[in-house]
Order: sequence, then structure tokens, then C-alpha cells
Amino acid sequence: MTRRSVIPALVAHGGAGPAVPADERPERKRAMLEAVRRGADILKDGGDALDVVVATIIALEDHPLFNAGTGSLLTIDGSVEMDASLMLAGDRSDSGETAGGAGRISAGAVAAVGRVRNPILLARAVMENTRHVLMVGQGAERLARRAGVPMCSNEDLITERARERWRRLRDSVQLGIPHAPFGHGTVGAVAIDARGAIAAATSTGGVPGKIAGRVGDSAIIGAGTFADLSGAASATGYGEAIILAGLCREAVRSLTGAPPATAARRAVTDLLGAANAEGGIIMVDRRGRIGFAHNAAMQVGVYESGAGIRHLWPDPVAIVKSAAKSSRRT
Ligand code: GLY
Repeated sequence: MTRRSVIPALVAHGGAGPAVPADERPERKRAMLEAVRRGADILKDGGDALDVVVATIIALEDHPLFNAGTGSLLTIDGSVEMDASLMLAGDRSDSGETAGGAGRISAGAVAAVGRVRNPILLARAVMENTRHVLMVGQGAERLARRAGVPMCSNEDLITERARERWRRLRDSVQLGIPHAPFGHGTVGAVAIDARGAIAAATSTGGVPGKIAGRVGDSAIIGAGTFADLSGAASATGYGEAIILAGLCREAVRSLTGAPPATAARRAVTDLLGAANAEGGIIMVDRRGRIGFAHNAAMQVGVYESGAGIRHLWPDPVAIVKSAAKSSRRT
């Protein structure tokens, strides 16, 4: 690939949704900073953007407060069904080529999977070990075993917190009373490395109260995750609206005429706003500039060489509320 000088950068999100309870904020902040530190260490060592986003996501999947991997929200049946995806644009430093992709972009994704501790590793295995992009079901599980992705029981993934939330939701559905919204914790990361390779990754347990078999945006390339040679994006929020908008692809396409901060804001105000949906997006462009925007509470971790690591609870952009507004988000 053409070598050009870029400033490596990493941005991660911990999901968009209702305000995080005050007693959870310090631990969420600590966990996000630790996840970004892991990714930043790889960037500082001259590592690949793909390894950076995967390391960042694994740290968040392993933390029980986030709705991904361990701690995933449950389906209305009480089962675990996780979605994850990643995408790489540019070349890997080890091979000089991306695996399993068309030209210099490649992607992998899994939908509604269980029994893997880190769905993002299985999405990576789809990208690197198959000619496919999206896998589900027993085939995905077989691939996990073949590729050496760490397996576990679904019980291992279910925290008491997730089970308690599921009970409250189930009871409120049965009694026909509204439940307090919850759902923070889809996780995402975007990065650019010193060689100019750009990657995005997203992982989630899905939205609260989802029907078994439902697949959200985090498994769909172009919706919850997208990267090309101009930049990368990872989304969070009401997955159905994000899929219909093709949110991340649209946001990355708009990088040709706008910096990431503007592209992210437009994606949230124009695309999510038009659907009356809550959510957020993080972005990085080919110059290493970053951006993020959201219309619900969202925490963000950032690494930029020079500025170091930062954690933010940025103010959401305003959305026009309507009677039809969805309360679903994660
Ligand atoms: N944004 C996560 C989901 O809708 O599943």
C-alpha cells in the first residue's frame, strides 16, 4: 500500500441509552479507560488497527457492566444471543494483504451466537478463516471450535444483573405495565494505525426484550459497523433504525465532504433523528481525525498520539421528540 504519514487514533464507545446510574459511573469509566489503554498500547507499539479494535472490544466484552459478551442482555426467553462484527480497510502489517475480502476491505460478522466468550473473536475468525462475511447458528459455533475461539457455557455469560433485568422486564410484560428503560452497553471501537489501515468493530447482547432470533445492527456491515479507505464508524442504539438507515456506511461516505465530528453529528441528527430513534456513533478518518455524536447518554474513550487517553461523557445532541418516539436503545 502507499505509505503515508498518519496520526494513529482510537475511539471506543460503551453504548447509548438512558443516563447511567451514578453508582455505576466510576466503574464504567475505569473499565473504558482500561479497554482504551489496551488498544492504545498496541497502537504505540506500531500494531495493526484490527488488533487494536479487537483488544479494546475484548476488554469491554469481558466486563460484566457492558451489554456484550459476559453481561449481555437476554432475549425475552431468557437466552443469550450475541451479535458482533468488524471491518478492516487497508493492509495488515504482517501479510501486506487483508484476508478474505474484496480488494483492500474485508469484514466478518456473527449473529445471535452463544457459547463464545468473545463474539468479536468469532467475527474475526469469519473474516480470516472463511470466504464469508456473516455466519450464524451451528456453523458459526463449529467455526469457533475449529478456529480456537474460547468457548464457554451460556450460563457463564449470564450475570445476576442481566438475569435480574430480564426478570423485571418479563414481569412487566406479563403484568402489562411499562418498565423503566435500560440497555446501556453495546460496545464499539474504531482505529487508524500508523500505516493508515483503518478498522471498526462492534459487539452487543442486543436490545432489552428482544425476541429470540432477532438480529440487530451490530451484526450488519454498513449498519452498526463500517470501514473503507476514507474512515470507519461504529454505532450504538436502536438497531432496527440503524439498519434501515445504513447508518455507518452513510456516515463514512459523508467523510468525503466533512470531518468526522460533522459526519457523526449529521448521522445522528439527520438519520437517527428522522427515525425518532436514540443512538450514537463514533468515527475516525484517514487523517486520524476523530468524531462522535449521540442523542442519548453515551460514554466515549479516546486515544490520540500526542494527547494520550481521555474519557468523556459528552452532552448528547438534541433530538426532536415525537409521540412515536421509540424507547428502545442499547
Ligand atoms: N444496537 C444494538 C442492537 O440494536 O442490537
